[in-house]
Amino acid sequence: MSFWCIFFAIIGIVVILIIIFGFPRKKKSPRKPNIEGLDNPEVAKAFEKMTNFLPFRLLRKKVLSKLKDFNPKGTLVDIGCGSGNLIIQIAESFPDLNLIGIDISSEILEFAKKLALDRNLGKRIEFKIGNVEKLPFSDESIDFIISTLSLHHWVNPVKVFNEIHRVLKRDGTLLIFDFRRDSRRFFYGILTFATKVVVPKALKEVHEPLGSIQSSYAYNEIFQLISQTRFQNPKVKTFLAWMFISIKK
Ligand SMILES: C[S@@+](CC[C@H](N)C(=O)[O-])C[C@H]1O[C@@H](n2cnc3c(N)ncnc32)[C@H](O)[C@@H]1O
Repeated sequence: MSFWCIFFAIIGIVVILIIIFGFPRKKKSPRKPNIEGLDNPEVAKAFEKMTNFLPFRLLRKKVLSKLKDFNPKGTLVDIGCGSGNLIIQIAESFPDLNLIGIDISSEILEFAKKLALDRNLGKRIEFKIGNVEKLPFSDESIDFIISTLSLHHWVNPVKVFNEIHRVLKRDGTLLIFDFRRDSRRFFYGILTFATKVVVPKALKEVHEPLGSIQSSYAYNEIFQLISQTRFQNPKVKTFLAWMFISIKK
């Protein structure tokens, strides 16, 4: 390869990195609360379709690889499991785990149940309808709780964190993955484009996926939020427009 090819390739990579990481948002926008559950049938159907888009598949891969670091055992519950794609992949990767998915929306759970049956996992995963503010488990009965892209929907997150604390066993772990509002401008641009152009009409009407990042928490807000709960010492790792929050009980 000639000197100039290498030179322009390096310049190109630097420009891309500057665009992605270099432009903070000028104005810090306040959090805009989101809808709670995906109850509307059209929204549920459109969301289920969107979960098969490549970015969602890549994000699930990232979450799964993070989960492997924790080597979960016993019973794992996915709260706000949506159309079940993640818990189904967890079932395939961790054959010994006892798995339960919970969601407030019966519409979206129908997709999850059908997907599990299609993958011959109907007997391995139990799906329950329920609000994460009142989990259907006894005290200290669950080993691991995971939640992806759901925290920004919770109306009363302090209550939810305390409820998770109640049901987790003493050395249990909580792992949350969600957007973060303090992301770079580049991601707002991508999500604005997706909301206006790419996603199905029903999602455009509820202002998604842009609404998700606008209703998510910023890095610092997570520490403030968790300090009001029974949990202590969260570990928060940011990654592009997202963050992982992990806490040991
Ligand atoms: C954006 S979806 C994410 C679904 C899935 N975790 C994923 O990553 O594809 C958020 C989900 O959280 C659920 N949800 C929101 N608030 C909830 C609550 N209070 N209790 C239970 N589920 C809730 C919604 O119904 C929805 O299915």
